[in-house]
Amino acid sequence: MHDKAKGLDHVAIAVKDLDAAVKYYVEVLGFAPPELEEVAEQQVRTAIFGHGMGRIELICPTAADTSVAKFLEKRGEGLHHVCVEVADLDATLAELKGKGAQLIDQTPKAGAGGARIAFIHPKGAHGVLTELRQGPKPHG
Ligand code: CO
Repeated sequence: MHDKAKGLDHVAIAVKDLDAAVKYYVEVLGFAPPELEEVAEQQVRTAIFGHGMGRIELICPTAADTSVAKFLEKRGEGLHHVCVEVADLDATLAELKGKGAQLIDQTPKAGAGGARIAFIHPKGAHGVLTELRQGPKPHG
């Protein structure tokens, strides 16, 4: 019952200039160079710092008319979402639908690192855009 959510997978920070933000994380904060990936379905480029649970993900839009681009326009750079790793994304989504949760994604989409993801609207998640994620394999 209480092991459906595995914990914080990552926090995501929306940035306007991915290269500049990566430089800051590496040169100022001292992270090892990140894993870079373009996630076509979400229309973002990502830079992921760290391994396993608790990573930091920088996200930068690749197109103007996307939710991340609109977020940056409206609010500027900053915390965009938190991501919770779940054991069974389909089961969690079905349960949330049953409880009338405000889902952005009714069905799982493709996320970074080959994961399946779905977002819950901030209005239904105590003010925080929340990503649910089921990774392709257990975290090592
Ligand atoms: Co994310």
